[in-house]
Amino acid sequence: MGGVKILLLGGNGQLGTDLRSALRGHTVLATARVPAPDSGLRALDVEDTRGCAALIAEFGPDLVLNTTAFHRVDDIERDASMALRINAAAAQQLALACRAADCAFLHVSTDYVFDGVKGAPYLETDVPNPLSAYGASKLVGEQLIRIAWPKHYIVRSCGLYGLAGASGKGGNFVNTMLRLAREGKPIRVVGDQICTPTATADLARQIARLIETGVYGTYHATSAGGCAWSEFATEIFTLAAARGLIAAAPPVTAISSATFGAPARRPPYSVLENRGLAELGIDILRPWQEALTDYIAAL
Ligand SMILES: NC(=O)c1ccc[n+]([C@@H]2O[C@H](COP(=O)([O-])OP(=O)(O)OC[C@H]3O[C@@H](n4cnc5c(N)ncnc54)[C@H](OP(=O)(O)O)[C@@H]3O)[C@@H](O)[C@H]2O)c1
Repeated sequence: MGGVKILLLGGNGQLGTDLRSALRGHTVLATARVPAPDSGLRALDVEDTRGCAALIAEFGPDLVLNTTAFHRVDDIERDASMALRINAAAAQQLALACRAADCAFLHVSTDYVFDGVKGAPYLETDVPNPLSAYGASKLVGEQLIRIAWPKHYIVRSCGLYGLAGASGKGGNFVNTMLRLAREGKPIRVVGDQICTPTATADLARQIARLIETGVYGTYHATSAGGCAWSEFATEIFTLAAARGLIAAAPPVTAISSATFGAPARRPPYSVLENRGLAELGIDILRPWQEALTDYIAAL
């Protein structure tokens, strides 16, 4: 144990789980809303403002790292109340608690704050314009944090997948694709949304690097490159078939977002450029295909 004292919120999520590994050199107290027995995680609901402030006062962290979110994007389109509570109000309260304790705050945000009409990779300085209620809730969270406490890092990422699987979504995109392939279901995936799938293992290592800098602000942190979700699915199947995880790579039919018909609109192009990390000389994120290859190998 040593290094920085970090209070990690959402320690059982995809990113939270990989952060526990990436931050091994530090003193980390990890929490979860409902920790599994014997997980070593402390119970903490981020809606419990007093409980959060009390734990911050008790543990005395140098940094609070918030990976919690309510991100069922299509459900939020029908009812944004929970998203506003977790992604915005709770984020504000956490930032205020960090200000009271004079510790840094790191919060994770999303490419869905952008509308996707730029047609080129988004920079941290580009003006957000969310298309979905989820994106709006995350943007409000960002803004409330900026107002509450300057010692913050806001890290926007995209298309996360990790070995822990996104609990709120019943798994991640890679798990879902492999399940459909094993069930022999036809694979129809949107081909008109371009972004950059990012492995939480890689993002966790990047966050561990960023917090060493003490240079606060908003950062984009995704793998390098970009692809449509249909291309991502094709790559998943090619790699999984080569490793024997599925019998053969099934054909992928690229469909339009309109045909898919999800309730929430997604940006058609939300590749993020990691300009801030590059300027600090610490962009360690590799091409998305390399990260996916390692992820499939670890399954
Ligand atoms: N997944 C993506 O594709 C994606 C893309 C861009 C950005 N992001 C952002 O990246 C961050 C991490 O996402 P992820 O994929 O790692 O999500 P995840 O696996 O679903 O983890 C989110 C965690 O938040 C916890 N949580 C929700 N409500 C809580 C509450 N009231 N109190 C305490 N914990 C609560 C969840 O716990 P329970 O399971 O117990 O509810 C879960 O452990 C989020 O900020 C998300 O908005 C995600």
